[in-house]
Amino acid sequence: MTTISEKIKQKPWLGWVLFLGTMVIVFLLGLLASSVMERRAEAVFAYQPTVEHGQFEPRNEVWGENFPREYETFLKTADTSFKSKYNGSAWIDMLEEDPRLVVLWAGYGFSKEYNQGRGHQHAIDDIQNILRTGAPIDEKKSPMPNTCWTCKSPDVPRVMNQYIEEEGDFTKGVAKFYSGSWEELGHQIVNPIGCADCHDAETMDLHISRPALIEAFNRRGKDISKATHQEMRSLVCAQCHVEYYFNPNIVEGSPYLTFPWDDGQSAESMEAYYDNMEFSDWTHKLSRAPMLKAQHPDYEIFQTGIHAKRGVACADCHMPYVSEGGVKFSSHHIVSPLKHVSKTCQVCHREETDQLVADVYERQDKVAEARNSLEKLLVRAHVEAKKAWDLGADEKRMQAALIDIRHAQWRWDYVAASHGSSFHSPVETSRVLSTGIEKAQEARLKISRVLADLGNNEPIEYPDIATKAKAQEYIGLDMEKLNSEKKKFVKEVVPVWLEKAAKREAQYEVNR
Ligand code: HEC
Ligand code: HEC
Ligand code: HEC
Ligand code: HEC
Repeated sequence: MTTISEKIKQKPWLGWVLFLGTMVIVFLLGLLASSVMERRAEAVFAYQPTVEHGQFEPRNEVWGENFPREYETFLKTADTSFKSKYNGSAWIDMLEEDPRLVVLWAGYGFSKEYNQGRGHQHAIDDIQNILRTGAPIDEKKSPMPNTCWTCKSPDVPRVMNQYIEEEGDFTKGVAKFYSGSWEELGHQIVNPIGCADCHDAETMDLHISRPALIEAFNRRGKDISKATHQEMRSLVCAQCHVEYYFNPNIVEGSPYLTFPWDDGQSAESMEAYYDNMEFSDWTHKLSRAPMLKAQHPDYEIFQTGIHAKRGVACADCHMPYVSEGGVKFSSHHIVSPLKHVSKTCQVCHREETDQLVADVYERQDKVAEARNSLEKLLVRAHVEAKKAWDLGADEKRMQAALIDIRHAQWRWDYVAASHGSSFHSPVETSRVLSTGIEKAQEARLKISRVLADLGNNEPIEYPDIATKAKAQEYIGLDMEKLNSEKKKFVKEVVPVWLEKAAKREAQYEVNR
């Protein structure tokens, strides 16, 4: 074998080829390195605030000027194209998908309209457009209080702060925000969920902006400002993705947003909390049971799952790290983690995408099976109770059955309203559903005894609720009227709100 130096001696031009080749490679490597450095410098530059603004700046585009990468991904929450088997970002009419829901919520706003949750960018549009907030035109009021704005916008901490300053007292200021009818703050709350909801303006550290979470911690003797960084990566979400109710007993006349966590966060603990204060969200139109509406106890149920127990946070799956030009940052496109499994699950799991998605669907399918059984039993229980009332049932004799209905539907809703729960914590959700099934059967047994005493020994007919329209007619809703009023409201009132807000915001000072 000849060595390179011998070869070069035989063919001197080969030496030049090697020399020039090496030079070209070194030059290209230099270019690459310089481009990487430049992108990094750009990144560092991008992290130097170019706009100075306060904590109560509600406009996401202003915060976004300092952090273009986060802002750009944040805007993607407007995208409605992703759909998975049970979830995703598309607008889906859930009452059309499952008309039984209309019966379960008879007498309550959710029976009018309930849609699949979408990305954060839609929060304001969706609350304005939904039938549940009504059509407050002229002197007519919305059926909802201002409290409903609380989880929609960074304008919320801004207005709360203004009221706190005016009142000179924290609780009074916050209570003032919650007071009054929903349309009163329509022109104030216009920016969808954003930076000021989760970040401190000065340090960009994670920040809790909503009083209800801080207060819930305080009542349990815990100080949220002591939470670890990893805990904060879930707690910022727990400002909104939790169970809550409007407490009438904190400040008179104010439906004060409160988390029912004083005795714990399980379905049973929160149920006992509500039972003890004899709280109910509404009285069921058919069964007359004192009902509870679960909101979306995502955070509470997530805590009971294996991922939470191993220290995984919401942001690990819903706001994964991504990189651009050698810069690593958190994707602010908060969405189903199944949209990009390689950036979410596969950071920790070695399985193929198909396998991981199948793992999620398997858990969801199994939980859905039990949830559907409970849902059917609940429809039957409401309808049978109605029959008993129609036949002249005695209030006292119905009492125990109605409490069973309340508890069974609460357990169903605790699971159903938490959209990620069947993956977040499949074992706990299955357990809660199984206790709900038992309660629903108990209720039906008790009602059948009342029915028998009233001379009815026949099975009660299941209503024809094959479509949303049929179900809404069955419970006596005038949808045509509700829809046309809403249309008028969206056309005439909303643009006035937005115009007023634009004028107000034009006065804000920003230092560039
Ligand atoms: C729903 C809560 C939430 C909202 C809304 C939000 N962020 Fe974040 N942001 C986070 C979380 C969680 C992290 C990860 C923080 C960590 O681990 O330190 C983060 C991280 C960041 C960081 C640190 C660098 C990085 O990417 O990890 C910046 C800068 C940032 N966000 C900017 C913004 C801007 C600008 C907006 C508005 C356009 C915004 N954020 C809206 C929750 C939020
Ligand atoms: C200020 C309240 C608020 C905060 C804070 C918040 N969310 Fe949300 N989130 C909402 C609301 C409201 C919706 C539904 C919006 C709609 O349907 O119009 C939503 C929707 C979602 C969705 C559904 C998105 C889709 O495309 O289907 C996910 C996932 C989600 N949030 C996760 C999170 C995570 C993770 C955090 C914390 C990093 C978080 N959210 C923080 C209020 C909030
Ligand atoms: C930050 C790391 C991390 C991420 C991201 C993550 N996991 Fe996990 N996962 C874990 C850990 C840790 C466990 C517990 C395993 C153990 O302790 O042996 C686990 C357990 C599981 C299990 C078994 C537990 C059960 O519920 O039966 C499944 C399935 C699973 N993960 C699927 C997923 C999927 C799907 C995703 C993406 C949506 C995901 N994981 C994202 C860390 C992670
Ligand atoms: C280990 C990964 C993981 C963690 C951690 C996690 N989730 Fe999820 N989440 C999922 C998966 C998987 C789904 C189901 C997505 C689907 O069906 O498309 C989901 C669904 C959701 C949904 C419904 C999404 C939709 O498209 O409508 C919301 C809201 C949600 N999670 C919020 C949270 C909150 C809040 C936390 C923290 C308290 C959290 N998640 C923690 C994996 C995770």
